[in-house]
Amino acid sequence: MTPAANSSPPDLPEETSLAQALAAIAPYGVRTGCRLIREGDETHLLPEEARSIPARQPATRRASGAARWLAHRLLAAIGFDDVALPRAPSGAPVWPDGITGSLAHDDEMAVAAVAPVGRIASLGIDVEPAQPLPDDILALAATPADRTDAADRHLAGRILFASKEAVYKAVYPLDREILGYEDITVDLDAGRATTKTGRKVSLVYCVAPRVVVLAFVEAR
Ligand SMILES: CC(C)(COP(=O)(O)OP(=O)(O)OC[C@H]1O[C@@H](n2cnc3c(N)ncnc32)[C@H](O)[C@@H]1OP(=O)(O)O)[C@@H](O)C(=O)NCCC(=O)NCCS
Repeated sequence: MTPAANSSPPDLPEETSLAQALAAIAPYGVRTGCRLIREGDETHLLPEEARSIPARQPATRRASGAARWLAHRLLAAIGFDDVALPRAPSGAPVWPDGITGSLAHDDEMAVAAVAPVGRIASLGIDVEPAQPLPDDILALAATPADRTDAADRHLAGRILFASKEAVYKAVYPLDREILGYEDITVDLDAGRATTKTGRKVSLVYCVAPRVVVLAFVEAR
């Protein structure tokens, strides 16, 4: 169901292997994609999207363009053609009615996930390099209640960090509340997170060739 990066020119090896890893973890009904950010990807922003993104730095616009290039294709595959995904003042992308989705990018890779709203009420995604998280960031992101025992020891902090960002992106469109790391408790062993707003969020992740976490809130 999940296409490879759908790129023309042909997919690069890292895109192919990440696309496969994403396909393996994505819950039923969730379409995912990834794209190494390329020179010129800012030109994939539709005019409404370009106007909604205030950042002037070329790298930031390129990353947002790469993520939307992916999302446009994922949406077209389920019948939503030429849909703009502008950024709301909150930072969250605006999806068409009946669709939930999420975007993320690190310095090199963009990822996107979309699903019809139904069994899944909201989605969040994050991508990170598959490298240990620096200790100072881990100290900011982790709380004593977080559980990561089952995760790869070297990457546990990175997966935890990505989980909290993905959870935030999944929950924000539902609650419209800004959460800090301390407001999200992650149990990677159980594949679940809870927020101070009372949301229960499911988590799946891969670690190679990048750490990607998909967070999803199931309909009650
Ligand atoms: C959402 C946030 C965590 C993203 O983090 P980031 O590392 O800067 O960037 P990422 O590449 O992971 O994600 C960027 C994408 O997140 C999405 N996003 C931004 N704000 C969002 C929100 N409130 N809700 C859902 N998605 C959001 C956008 O699609 C954005 O891509 P775009 O700029 O191309 O449109 C961050 O921008 C933010 O709003 N932080 C405030 C709250 C916070 O940091 N809490 C602690 C973490 S839980």
